[in-house]
Amino acid sequence: MAANNRTPMIAGNWKMHMTAKEAADLAAAMRAGLDPDLKHEVLLAPTFTALHAVNAVLGGSRIFLSSQDVAWEEKGAFTGAVSPSQIKDAGCTHAIIGHSERRKVFLETDEVVNKKMKAAIKANIVPVLCIGETLEERESQKTYRVLETQLTGAFAGITAEEAAKVVIAYEPVWAIGTGKTATPDQAQDAHVFVRKQMERIYGKGYADAVRILYGGSVKADNIDELMAQGDIDGALVGGESLKADKFLRVIHFQAVLSK
Ligand code: PGA
Repeated sequence: MAANNRTPMIAGNWKMHMTAKEAADLAAAMRAGLDPDLKHEVLLAPTFTALHAVNAVLGGSRIFLSSQDVAWEEKGAFTGAVSPSQIKDAGCTHAIIGHSERRKVFLETDEVVNKKMKAAIKANIVPVLCIGETLEERESQKTYRVLETQLTGAFAGITAEEAAKVVIAYEPVWAIGTGKTATPDQAQDAHVFVRKQMERIYGKGYADAVRILYGGSVKADNIDELMAQGDIDGALVGGESLKADKFLRVIHFQAVLSK
């Protein structure tokens, strides 16, 4: 029996893959393969140009639609950016914010992440906030410091009430796309630390309720042991979410809950 009331969430991050048609086909396969009695939340995050097509396929289903990023301004001269109301218009209820690829490749700082969090919350979009340390940071014992800094920065100026719906994804950068998953113990340790930080920022009630997903080489064959950890509330899945059969297995994980 679960000792907490956190609804598991499994999210697929499709990154810069697939045409609109291919994404819609994969979304249709996910919809068709979903156990109708499943109580988890399922989230798909296609690339911007596929949002409308995927939304059309998901209409009336229990699968939520997410963007992979969102701008912090509502409109104006921001060439290449997509605003909260625009992703909403495309059917999104969620937005991934601060993914390590945005931080590393597009040089997003904690300040930018914070602005995006605020803009999403204001538009009633649920942020899926990504945090995580690099291999170098882990090896030099800086993991906790990095997580603390990223969390403090991301939530700066956001009230507990505003932060209520936020979902956090702990994604160690060294585990993303590398096939090197964190061990269930490593992930659990980091999740406990993240939860403690959230208690420091917003108090115990918030910390007990906030969902913390794990991301980084989550696969059909490692999801069960990850989900058996007491503080892992779901997964943010990249590569494995591009294959319908594998991702459906991830979604229908069979954790023997020790929670
Ligand atoms: P991966 O990606 O599952 O391919 O490691 C996870 C992510 O980047 O969200």
